Amino acid sequence: MTTFLSGIQPSGRPHLGNYFGALRQHVAATLEPGTHFYFIADYHALTTSEGPETLRESVRDVAVTYLALGLDPERACLFRQSDVPEVTELAWLLACVTGMGLLERAHSYKDKLAHGIKPSVGLFTYPILMAADILAYDSDLVPVGKDQVQHVEMAQDMAGYFNGKYGEVFHRPECRLPAVERFQKVPGLDGQKMSKSYGNAVWIFESGKGLAKAVGRIPTDSRPPEEPKDPASVLLMDFLALFLEPEELADWQRRVREGGAGAPGYGHLKQRLVAAMDEHFAPARARRDELLADPAEVDRILARGAEKARARAAAVTERARRACGLR
Ligand code: ADP
Ligand code: TRP
Repeated sequence: MTTFLSGIQPSGRPHLGNYFGALRQHVAATLEPGTHFYFIADYHALTTSEGPETLRESVRDVAVTYLALGLDPERACLFRQSDVPEVTELAWLLACVTGMGLLERAHSYKDKLAHGIKPSVGLFTYPILMAADILAYDSDLVPVGKDQVQHVEMAQDMAGYFNGKYGEVFHRPECRLPAVERFQKVPGLDGQKMSKSYGNAVWIFESGKGLAKAVGRIPTDSRPPEEPKDPASVLLMDFLALFLEPEELADWQRRVREGGAGAPGYGHLKQRLVAAMDEHFAPARARRDELLADPAEVDRILARGAEKARARAAAVTERARRACGLR
């Protein structure tokens, strides 16, 4: 039976990149036969913490978001990473077989430094804790966005180093990317990769004026509607491509390319985007409101998830302890 596992860091409200690159495919995968583990990576969030209250709020936000998007806690185990402290022990065991060089090559670490984040040892060893998360549940498949692929490959490497030294303890995980390429790297309001840390993100549950304002921030240029344009040069079209059916998208692209009297202006494209996003997320927004009104139920779901997850992680950790001579 295939074991699926993934997680998401609770740092800020989930945005369109998190949704298309991660959350949506996590929820869809839970409909496949297998065992499913999804967690809220609160230990990882401490690498860039904005304080305890914000962390608690973000954890709740991610839990509620998963459930609102349709994750069924009867089919998938939803839990908080820190409810399974075994992963920190596993991270130590993995750290002791991992060379500095592997971590020094991590793109996401280099990227965070380039964006001015002050590095802690925790940030540097982020991929080790992530490998521990993956290996602790004997995961077979790890659905993630493109920017996490290198981390999953590092988990494969670390499993290999440990097994090479101590025998077959860890399972080799494989990663799975969103099937549609445009969902692998969603652009932000500035055309760069959408990311919480870059100030270019759109929260998925934005509605009303907030949504109109967010869409209003997508930059446009001064070319008039009649001027024929390459749709690839219009950032708004990339956003529309996330939501529209292929036929409708092709029609807008044709009109932009041809220009002339029938071509839409940027304001028109923005209106369509607001309507499409609003419609896409309306059902989940309503479920979110219900869940926010019942925090005790969300806590119960997380507690049940943690119990099941911890049982599996405890068994794998014990196997690793024995293999390296700690028992
Ligand atoms: P952020 O860059 O906002 O801090 P995270 O690094 O916490 O986001 O990523 C959480 C999950 O969302 C990961 O699986 C990641 O691959 C996915 N993800 C984040 N941003 C994007 C994006 N712009 N496009 C596609 N997937 C993304
Ligand atoms: N790094 C992931 C993110 O930024 C979160 C994460 C932590 C994760 N451990 C994981 C994802 C294990 C997949 C598997 O959201």
